[in-house]
Amino acid sequence: MKKSVLITGAAGFIGSHLSERFLAEGFDVLGVDNFLTGREANIQDALKNPSFRFEKADVIERFDFKNPFGGKFWMVLHFACPASPTDFENLSQEILEVDSIGTMNALKFAHEQGAKFFIASTSEVYGDPLVHPQTEEYWGNVSSTGPRSCYDEAKRFSEAATMVYHRKYKLDTRIVRIFNTYGPRMRLNDGRVVPALCEQALRGKPLTVHGDGTQTRSFCYVSDLVDGIFKLAMSKENLPTNVGNPVEYSLNDFANVVNKLTGQKLATQYLPSRPEDPRRRKPDISKAKRILGWEPKVSLEDGLKLTLDAFKKEL
Ligand SMILES: NC(=O)c1ccc[n+]([C@@H]2O[C@H](COP(=O)([O-])OP(=O)(O)OC[C@H]3O[C@@H](n4cnc5c(N)ncnc54)[C@H](O)[C@@H]3O)[C@@H](O)[C@H]2O)c1
Repeated sequence: MKKSVLITGAAGFIGSHLSERFLAEGFDVLGVDNFLTGREANIQDALKNPSFRFEKADVIERFDFKNPFGGKFWMVLHFACPASPTDFENLSQEILEVDSIGTMNALKFAHEQGAKFFIASTSEVYGDPLVHPQTEEYWGNVSSTGPRSCYDEAKRFSEAATMVYHRKYKLDTRIVRIFNTYGPRMRLNDGRVVPALCEQALRGKPLTVHGDGTQTRSFCYVSDLVDGIFKLAMSKENLPTNVGNPVEYSLNDFANVVNKLTGQKLATQYLPSRPEDPRRRKPDISKAKRILGWEPKVSLEDGLKLTLDAFKKEL
C-alpha cells in the first residue's frame, strides 16, 4: 500500500507545489484548505490525479480527517497559514489561530494517528536578526507586540508546541524554517515584493519599493524549496532546519533584475518603510547541505523568468 500524507494549506502557493511533489514521489495525498488565501485553481492539476483528494475545512475548527485511501496517515504536514505582509495586517487573528490552535489540533491528530509531523516555520522566527547569516542556533530578535508579531510569535509558538510533542510523546517531528520563496501561484496582490514588482513591470508601471531599497532578501525558487522540504521529510532530523537561497539581493538590485528580464527601464518609486521590516535576511544553509545533501539550483533570473511567464497569464 502507498504511504499517505495529509497536507494543510494544500491550495496555497507552497502547499500546492508540495502536494504535487509528494504525488510525483508515489504518495497518496489528502489536501486540506479553507481557501482563505488559497485558490481552487492551484489544485486543478493535482485533482486530475487519483492519488490526490481534497477536503475543504478550517483546521482551527476541526481536525478529524479520515484517510480516503484507507489506513493511517504516514505524515501530517501543517502548511496552512497566510504568509504575506498584507496578511499580517488584515488576517492577524486568523494567522495567530492557525499557528496556535491549528498547530495543536494538527499535533494531536498526528500523535493519535501514529504519524510523523512536519511544521512549516519561517525565517521570521529570527525577527530582525542581529546575527548574519542566520544559523538554526540563533534565537532571534523578535518583537512580541509589534505589527508582525501575530506571524512571528505564532510560528515560534508552533515550533515550541512541536518540540513539546517531540519530547513528551516522542512524536517524530520535522521543522523547516522557510526563507523568502517565490514562483508561480503566488497571488499577484499579496503584498510580497516578488509578485508586486513583477505585476508592476508587466503593466509598465513604476516599481514600488518600501524604504530605501538597500534592505536585502534572499529569494528561493519554489521548486528548490519543495526539494529541500521533501528531503527533510524523508530524513530523520527532528530539529529546525533552514531551507532557502543564500544569494542575497538588495531590493534595488532586485528591481534592476525585474527591469532587465522584462526589457524595461522603469523608475523605482520609494514608499515609506514597513514597520519593523527586517534589514537583512540570509540563511546559513550549512546544515541542510550537510544532512540533506540539498542546496538551491535555480538562479534568480531563471526562476523569475518562469514566474513572470506564469503571472502574464493572470493579468
Ligand atoms: N512563501 C514564503 O516565502 C514563506 C516563507 C516562510 C514560511 N512560509 C510558510 O509556508 C506556509 C505556506 O505559505 P504560502 O506562501 O504558500 O502561503 P499561502 O497563503 O499561499 O498558503 C496558505 C494556505 O493555507 C490556507 N489556510 C489558511 N488558514 C487556514 C485554515 N484555518 N484552515 C485551512 N486552511 C487554511 C490558505 O487558504 C492557503 O491556501 C505557511 O505556513 C507560511 O507561513 C512561507
